[in-house]
Amino acid sequence: MSGPLLGVEDLTIAFEQGVGGLLRRGQGLFTAVDHVSFAIGRGECVGLIGESGSGKTTLGRAVVQLIAPSAGLIRFDGTDLTALPARALRPYRPRLQIVFQDPTESLNPRFSVEEIVTEPLRLLKLGERAGWRERALRLLRQVGVTDDALSRPPRHFSGGQRQRIAIARALVTEPELIVLDEPTSGLDVSMQARILNLLRDLQGRFGLSYLFISHDIGAVSYLAARVAVLYRGVLVELAPTRALIAHPAHPYTAALLGALPSWVRGRSELPAAEPTRIVAAVPGQGCPYAARCPRVLERCRTQRPERRAIGAGREVACHNPLDSAA
Ligand SMILES: Nc1ncnc2c1ncn2[C@@H]1O[C@H](COP(=O)(O)OP(=O)(O)O)[C@@H](O)[C@H]1O
Ligand SMILES: [Mg+2]
Repeated sequence: MSGPLLGVEDLTIAFEQGVGGLLRRGQGLFTAVDHVSFAIGRGECVGLIGESGSGKTTLGRAVVQLIAPSAGLIRFDGTDLTALPARALRPYRPRLQIVFQDPTESLNPRFSVEEIVTEPLRLLKLGERAGWRERALRLLRQVGVTDDALSRPPRHFSGGQRQRIAIARALVTEPELIVLDEPTSGLDVSMQARILNLLRDLQGRFGLSYLFISHDIGAVSYLAARVAVLYRGVLVELAPTRALIAHPAHPYTAALLGALPSWVRGRSELPAAEPTRIVAAVPGQGCPYAARCPRVLERCRTQRPERRAIGAGREVACHNPLDSAA
C-alpha cells in the first residue's frame, strides 16, 4: 500500500467542560484538539511538541484509538479507523501501540513482568499461548532487560528499566506505529539518552513509525526529522526539525525554543517572548496565540490563520510569521 502509514485529517476532539465526558456536539465544550492534520510515513518518526495542556496526549490517544474523535479522520494504511465498528477495528489494534510517560502508573503493580509484556496478546487474543513466554523473553532481551525479570513485579525495577518493560509490551504485538507519549520525561538525563538510543535502534530494526510526543525539543530532535508544534490544540507549525530549531516561523515556536540552551537552538538570538500589547482573544475566533503573541496584528484577533506552505516541507498557521528562510 502506498501513501503515508498514518494520515490525520481535520481531527477535532472536544470535551464537555468540567465533567470529563466526550461529546460529539453541543454547548460548553472545550476543544482539546482543533482541526489537526498531518501524516506519518512508513518508518518515519514525527515529533509533536507543545507546552503542558496543549492536547498532545489527547491527540496521541486518539491516534491509537483509545478515544474517539468528535470530528475528522484517522487514516491508517489507507483505512479511516474512526469509521470502523469495534469488530472491524480489531485487526488494526495490534498494529498501533502507545508507550506512556510514567511507567509506574502504566504498569500493573500486581502483574509480573511476563504478564505485563504478554498482556496485549491476551487482550487481543493473538497467537498461541504456548509461545508467549518465549516472545516476552526475546523482546525483553532486545530492550535490554535480563531474563530473571520475567517472574518479578515492576516495583523491583528502576524507572529506566520499567520504561524498557513498557516498550517491550508495546512491541509484543509487532506494531507498525508506536505513539511515544513523553517516554523519557520522568527519567534522569543519562537514562533519557539511553532510552532514546534504544528507541532509535528499535525503529531501525523493526522499521517502526513513531509519533514522538514531548515538551523537550532536544529529545525530539534526536529521533524526529520532522516536528509538529501544537498550541492549545491547534497545529501551528510543521517543519523539518533542524530548520524549525534554527529558524522557527511561528512566534509560539520561537517562544517555546527560547526556553532552550543556545547549543540546542543553533543560534543565540530569539525574538522577545513578551507580548508588546495584549489583544483580547475571542474564543473560537482568531489566532489562539494572539493574546500572548509579540507579533500580533489586528486581524489575528478575528481571523484564524490557515496553515500554509512557507518553504521546503514547512508549514505555518500565522498571519505574521518570522523570517524562516535558512
Ligand atoms: N477526559 C478529559 N475530559 C476533559 N478534559 C480533558 C480530558 N482529557 C484531557 N482534557 C483536557 O484537554 C487538554 C489537553 O490535555 P492533554 O492532551 O493531556 O495535554 P498535553 O498532553 O499536551 O499536556 C487539557 O486542558 C486537559 O485538561
Ligand atoms: Mg501529555
